[in-house]
Amino acid sequence: MWTSSYEADQSFMPSLAQFTIQQAHKASHIIHIAMEEKSIGYWIGMYTIISLVTCIVGSGRYYFVFSASLWASNTLFQDLTRAVLRAPLRWLDTVPMGRVLNRFSKDFETIDSKIATDVSFLVSNSLGLVGVIAAGYVAPSRPFFASCLLTPGRFFLSIYMVPLAAAMLAVSAVYASHYLAGAREVKRLESNSRSPIFEFFGSALTGVATIRAFGKAEGYIEQMYQKIDYYGACTFYVWLFSRWVSYRLTILGTLFTLTVGIVVVSMPNTNASLAGFALSFAMGYSLNVIWAVRRYANVELDMNSTERIVEYTKIETERQGGIVPPAHWPSQGRIEATDLVVSYAPDLPPVLKGISFTVEPRQRLGVVGRTGAGKSSLTLALFQFIRASEGKILIDGLDISKITLHDLRSRMVIIPQDPILFSGTVRSNLDAFGEHTDEELRDALERVHLIPSGSSSAASPSATASGTSTPKPAKNSNPFSSLNSPISEGGLNLSQGQRQLLCLARAIVSRPKILVLDEATSAVDMHTEALIRKSMEEEFRDCTTVVIAHRLATVVGYDRIMVLGEGKVVEFGAPWELLQKEEGVFRGMVRESGEEEGLRGMAREAAGVLIEE
Ligand SMILES: Nc1ncnc2c1ncn2[C@@H]1O[C@H](COP(=O)(O)OP(=O)(O)O)[C@@H](O)[C@H]1O
Ligand SMILES: [Mg+2]
Repeated sequence: MWTSSYEADQSFMPSLAQFTIQQAHKASHIIHIAMEEKSIGYWIGMYTIISLVTCIVGSGRYYFVFSASLWASNTLFQDLTRAVLRAPLRWLDTVPMGRVLNRFSKDFETIDSKIATDVSFLVSNSLGLVGVIAAGYVAPSRPFFASCLLTPGRFFLSIYMVPLAAAMLAVSAVYASHYLAGAREVKRLESNSRSPIFEFFGSALTGVATIRAFGKAEGYIEQMYQKIDYYGACTFYVWLFSRWVSYRLTILGTLFTLTVGIVVVSMPNTNASLAGFALSFAMGYSLNVIWAVRRYANVELDMNSTERIVEYTKIETERQGGIVPPAHWPSQGRIEATDLVVSYAPDLPPVLKGISFTVEPRQRLGVVGRTGAGKSSLTLALFQFIRASEGKILIDGLDISKITLHDLRSRMVIIPQDPILFSGTVRSNLDAFGEHTDEELRDALERVHLIPSGSSSAASPSATASGTSTPKPAKNSNPFSSLNSPISEGGLNLSQGQRQLLCLARAIVSRPKILVLDEATSAVDMHTEALIRKSMEEEFRDCTTVVIAHRLATVVGYDRIMVLGEGKVVEFGAPWELLQKEEGVFRGMVRESGEEEGLRGMAREAAGVLIEE
């Protein structure tokens, strides 16, 4: 319009002849106004307003897109975290950690930083396309625009342009669909090839000492390179595919613009504004088509990350509901298992095959049996990590399969076979929620003989400082002399035995009614173990204790012994009674242990039997 306003009046007149009288009247009226006000300031003012509106709308668009994207990403992240944290043990056992890490890192990066931009550009290019088409075909039918553009040539132009534009769109769509069919799969390969890298890195990090000890570092580096190469190859092909389609689309766009140019030049009665409009239409159109198609493809490929994340948010989690037991539960600590059948997964054979036993309140039960007999599985069943397919476990008369998992697991304490510590300080590991005083914590450390007795009263003032102080490396050689001593990830700066003892101290601090120990002192020397046994006897006098023992000495003085064999109870009874059985399994184990005399003595003492053998 601006361009036309400088053309001679005559150039408008012939075109007006094509209108009806009424239209012409209206048009001439508008033109009259336009002609009157067509100072340079008017046009520049209009142009500035349009530009300003573009700025505001453009910024608003980004604000909208990115806040929506953050919200979506946040929601997905919470869903994924919730699902993974509540995943059943079986899922964590079978899914490689690398896959989970891949989703939490790279896939979220795509969602955080790529999808939003791609979606916003897709929308913007699609709207741009609509805008170009509207400007090209709708606007000229309005009288004012028509007066500028609607020459006999326009009709002629449309005959060429419409089919050309349609053809270009169709060919672009064909290329895009070819591209997507291949790119989708390559993108999947690329995403999947990342997981082994994470997995390998994680396991190499954990086992770095072993790898070095065996001089296998070179081999590991080589393997890592192979995995990275494979990922690199996938990435290369993803980009190659993208170049393939963009090359073709760009050529197509150039051809389209060129053809329009030729048509415009060779057309009779061309005026400058029409020619300019046609060419800018052609360029705008082809650019928007190319970019809309490519953005669409990008969005579809990015959605691969969303797909992968959503897949993991849909996994079956552990049951969340259940009865909330009374606050004082379990007040007695009576454990009753009847015909317990447990397997790790529905398609796996049961590991506990119909176990029944009762532990009375405050009794101590020792569980012994060969490796693989099902001892650890029994503890997992007690905490509902694996569920009973038949039979049930009652604790103080409540069926544990009906209680909310949170309540069940927070009211009992387990020290698993692999002691788990978290990076932080001694204090944060003993008392994660800051519920106990420093005296209690130091007392617990004393009882497991991590610090010499009597030292809790002579604590240094710095050690009694509140838990908010930053962890300082202890100058003292004993890392437990200060509650602020740092504990590295997984407790790797402590020996296995020290880790077990720290877990035991954690159990002492929380004073549960029911305590389950799974070979909790297996890496502790005999002398320390004997001392701990004493402390435990005093500390857990009011608790029901289930102890899985690797050494018979640990449990021979207990109230009951359960011998497990291949998922069944082989023997159950007081140790002294079991020792009286001629062909008893427990007696056999004691005999084989090589310390029969000592063990018999301990059992006899515990049973209070005074008769001389
Ligand atoms: N996470 C698991 N998934 C599947 N099977 C398992 C798992 N853990 C243990 N098992 C099986 O359960 C049986 C008992 O194992 P476990 O209870 O750990 O024995 P242990 O008495 O040595 O503690 C073993 O035969 C083992 O194959
Ligand atoms: Mg075990």
